[in-house]
Amino acid sequence: MAPSVVTASNVITKDELCLMQEVPSSCGIIIYGASGDLAHRKLFPSLLQLQSDKAMPDAYYVIGVARTPLSDQAFRDGIAKSVGASFPAELVQAFLKRCFYVAGDYGNPAAYSALRVRLEQLDEQFKTGGRHLFYLSVPPPLYGAIAEQLGIAGLSRQRRAGDKTTAPKKDDAWTRMIVEKPFGESLASAQALNQALHQHFNEDQIYRIDHYLGKETVQNILMFRFANAIFEPVWSHRFIDHVQITAAEEEGVGHRAGYYESAGAVRDMFQNHLFQLLSLVTMEPPASFAPDAVRGEKSKIMSSVVPFRPFDLANKSVRGQYDGYRREEGVKPDSTTETYAAMRLEIDNWRWFGVPFYLRSGKKLARRETEIAIQFKHVPTSIFKPLMADQISPNILRFRIQPDEGITLCFESKHPGSKLCMSTVTMQFDYKDAFGVKPPEAYTRLFLDVMLGDPTLFARQDWLASSWGLLDPVLDYWAEKKGQGLTTYAPGSWGPREADELLATEGRRWLTC
Ligand code: BG6
Repeated sequence: MAPSVVTASNVITKDELCLMQEVPSSCGIIIYGASGDLAHRKLFPSLLQLQSDKAMPDAYYVIGVARTPLSDQAFRDGIAKSVGASFPAELVQAFLKRCFYVAGDYGNPAAYSALRVRLEQLDEQFKTGGRHLFYLSVPPPLYGAIAEQLGIAGLSRQRRAGDKTTAPKKDDAWTRMIVEKPFGESLASAQALNQALHQHFNEDQIYRIDHYLGKETVQNILMFRFANAIFEPVWSHRFIDHVQITAAEEEGVGHRAGYYESAGAVRDMFQNHLFQLLSLVTMEPPASFAPDAVRGEKSKIMSSVVPFRPFDLANKSVRGQYDGYRREEGVKPDSTTETYAAMRLEIDNWRWFGVPFYLRSGKKLARRETEIAIQFKHVPTSIFKPLMADQISPNILRFRIQPDEGITLCFESKHPGSKLCMSTVTMQFDYKDAFGVKPPEAYTRLFLDVMLGDPTLFARQDWLASSWGLLDPVLDYWAEKKGQGLTTYAPGSWGPREADELLATEGRRWLTC
């Protein structure tokens, strides 16, 4: 049956329901790793998008920092090439005029002195008031070293315009730092990294980025849950049978083996993206939408996830590697890195008692698809005999995170005709149909929030500690077992058979998206 679709014509947009959105104060944006893939594919286009949306401050400049010696012009040419024709030429030209380049070895103090001189010149030229945003888009082992050198060079300080005892003002100078993921590779290393950063930066200067939190569909989870009254009463173990979170990718490891070999699917996807989705779907309503109210609830829920016990691990976690992974460029021929993982979690609180959460993520799977599926309980009894209650399909609510962004509710309906038949139909909301646009790139939102000093969509250190604390036993167990228990799956499939068994032993199955 054709789904009922929420279309642009029946979307009621009420401007008065927009939350206040300020334009950030003028600032300098310093991107470490400016010749890298992330900078060219995501960061520069996101800044251009913000410029195009008129969301950038009136005065700002961008400094790219990397090892390769480059002139400002060569740096600008590189950006122009990577953004291609995706923005009007005039906009790109105006943006490029604000872009500058400083070359230098990340560990060499002289490079930071050169940067400081450039910052002073550009602050003066652009009247940016000493506000600096450093973006560390470099390999993780460099985070601590760069933060330290910035500190030694006196570039981590927050200079306030006036009296330090008064409340912060919009024109105060600030220094903020965005740190890319992965933040550590275990609880101990994440804590060590925090300590290293805290030598020179306060916690409120550090923005640990997880680009999933900037995705429109992910931000919408809280709107869906807390701006609608009808879902909250059914959002618990009383009505929900179980929850599945899937982040499936069609691509393999590509040219990223250097990083991926020491990461694997759990560090790459679970510790951050999947656990963030889990937190948003399960957290309690925060007291307000203030950053620490939201992040506090997320931390609370992460600390309520039941830790894995050693004897559980074989039954509650699955790891796999796609056939052909060991032949990829840069991968060890006997690599035991998992390219797929699945696990079953539980949350020990009143709301979620007894509800299983099944999480899975992998590369080279059948399709690119990220979704959260909430399966409700069966009807308690059937009046449609001989159909029994458990033969009637349960309701499923799907948050379609990507690529076909939207929300779907599956429910049972009478099939037309004289016979009494039942069909599963859907009510659905599609972003593109409803709003006439594709959701914006996640990094635009996140850049804007850091310029505005809003950390809501960034990982707080206590959340991060809980997240690593949960995963450490899994990673240690797998490291100890080496290749034992690592199964191979066919590229283009939905992963190892063992992941199906994880659910089948409990009478469930993965809801193929
Ligand atoms: C990154 C991972 O954080 O997220 C990649 O390092 C992964 O391995 C990517 O491919 C997925 O992001 P998205 O936005 O394409 O789902």
